[in-house]
Amino acid sequence: MSNPGLFITLEGVDGCGKTTQATLLVEDLESEGHEVVRLREPGGTRISEKIRLFVLDPQYDEMCDECELLLYEAARAQLVREVIEPALERGAVVVCDRFYDSTYAYQASARGLSANVVSMANNLGSCGLAPDLTIVFDLDPFEALKRATHEATDRVEGEGTEFQRKVRDGYLKLAQDEPHRVRIVDATGPVEVVHARVRQTLSEGLDGGWG
Ligand code: TMP
Repeated sequence: MSNPGLFITLEGVDGCGKTTQATLLVEDLESEGHEVVRLREPGGTRISEKIRLFVLDPQYDEMCDECELLLYEAARAQLVREVIEPALERGAVVVCDRFYDSTYAYQASARGLSANVVSMANNLGSCGLAPDLTIVFDLDPFEALKRATHEATDRVEGEGTEFQRKVRDGYLKLAQDEPHRVRIVDATGPVEVVHARVRQTLSEGLDGGWG
């Protein structure tokens, strides 16, 4: 299923700096004249934002892993159908802060759900849509934790460094398994330096094949 748009996803452990990097990337793409649709997961539609509030709320600490998985997938399906597919069809660049690789890293690698189950769920939740390029901001979870300065901790962030270490391992495995699509960017160092690495990765990853 090809379309004229470009679908870029940004991934990494909590606190890796991908939201700041998303802002810089979007600014660049817009200044180059592209229509850019910036999104985050879970979220980006009325329904998906409601699910976000629910799935990340620390008061629901009884939530089982399967319930959590399905909530992320439900939010994703709505986002794909309502926003991402139409944007790609009209030729926009979609920059999404997290997508189904988060589900592999968090729900399979870190929570321990079977990779097969998560893969099937991802297939449904993404409505069969795959990113053209995925950038994983790689940072030691301990460093990432130090960077996260906001007071409020959501249900997932509250899991601690060991959990985030497994998340990181999940991302590294994905990059090994799908090296063409999933690219690791070293997230250490100043914001501008990381941004330059993103630009480099983007031009290598797209092989001049878009725009
Ligand atoms: P954010 O803090 O990057 O906005 O992401 C929300 C949290 O949800 C983050 O801790 C990662 C987690 N998450 C999953 O566990 N599975 C998923 O599929 C997604 C999209 C996010």
